[in-house]
Amino acid sequence: MAPPTHFTLNTGAKIPAVGLGTWQSKPGEVQQAVAFALKDGYRHIDAALVYGNEAEVGQGIKDSGVPREEIFLTSKVWNSHQPNVKEGLQKSLDALGVDYLDLYLVHWPVRLVPNETGELFPLNPDGTRAVDRSWDQSETWRQMEEIYKSGKVKAIGVSNWSIPYLEELRKTWTIVPAVNQVELHPYLPQHELREYCEKLGILLQAYSPLGSTGAPIMTDPDIQKIADKNGVSAATILISYHVNKGVVVLPKSVIEKRISSNKDVISLSKEDLDVLDQLAASGKAKRLNTPLWGFDLGFADWYGPVKSR
Ligand SMILES: NC(=O)c1ccc[n+]([C@@H]2O[C@H](COP(=O)([O-])OP(=O)(O)OC[C@H]3O[C@@H](n4cnc5c(N)ncnc54)[C@H](OP(=O)(O)O)[C@@H]3O)[C@@H](O)[C@H]2O)c1
Repeated sequence: MAPPTHFTLNTGAKIPAVGLGTWQSKPGEVQQAVAFALKDGYRHIDAALVYGNEAEVGQGIKDSGVPREEIFLTSKVWNSHQPNVKEGLQKSLDALGVDYLDLYLVHWPVRLVPNETGELFPLNPDGTRAVDRSWDQSETWRQMEEIYKSGKVKAIGVSNWSIPYLEELRKTWTIVPAVNQVELHPYLPQHELREYCEKLGILLQAYSPLGSTGAPIMTDPDIQKIADKNGVSAATILISYHVNKGVVVLPKSVIEKRISSNKDVISLSKEDLDVLDQLAASGKAKRLNTPLWGFDLGFADWYGPVKSR
């Protein structure tokens, strides 16, 4: 059976299974990358204010000539804007040059307090990040719900939220997050989080599916073996892994040939999926994205056993 091209959010909206990532896509590269991707068939772009390139992403969308309503566009409220989500949203809308988003995420369950050292990555006098541990994330979510009701975003969700954080938020949410965007790949399969989100109707999105900068997971011999068996690249295996498991995947590239091939998704056998599912537990577990917030985000079980698929 052909793998799905779209999934359905708990709002009823359709979301393309593969979206173009834009983190670390440099100025002078990302505009062309976005325009090329959309002309090449992508209909899903993952952006964020903190990537510092939303104006170029927006220009790429315009250059593509693809109508706005055909594109699924995501952005994220940055940690320093948590007390004023509306302001963060407006900055992204202005930079992207659009009047609504299809999905808006709380980027991290972490509030940063801007000071004279910076707005986006403020520091304390001792050099640690200026995190406000007393900030109540349920207040951030309350503001997200208001924004959703205003119609400026068609769905709201979270990013980098572990089970304990979601359990806490659950006590007060009136709208269930549509999405949880987390680091996800065979070295960090997060089986328990996937099962938990599935039960609540929260769709997972896989970031850093190739291992982030330089795509290090692509060189894994076990993954290459599966790629050779299927006659495709390791990137295709790593991207297809998520779609076969009902997860949205967000590969980033600014190289046309890669952008084009990264949207190819194949059906994987149960045998191949089992191998990929067990790689972390076999000793390869690795989290690649670990910003120094200075406290535990509750992802303790991140390479736990596969309970079911
Ligand atoms: N919510 C969050 O906190 C969060 C965190 C991280 C990422 N994200 C999102 O997820 C997206 C993807 O994650 P990511 O950017 O960390 O990493 P990724 O997509 O796993 O990997 C990107 C790296 O792989 C290279 N690459 C891409 N396709 C390739 C291919 N077919 N063959 C060989 N190399 C290839 C890219 O280089 P080239 O560009 O030179 O091709 C880049 O160095 C981000 O861009 C962002 O939108 C979200």
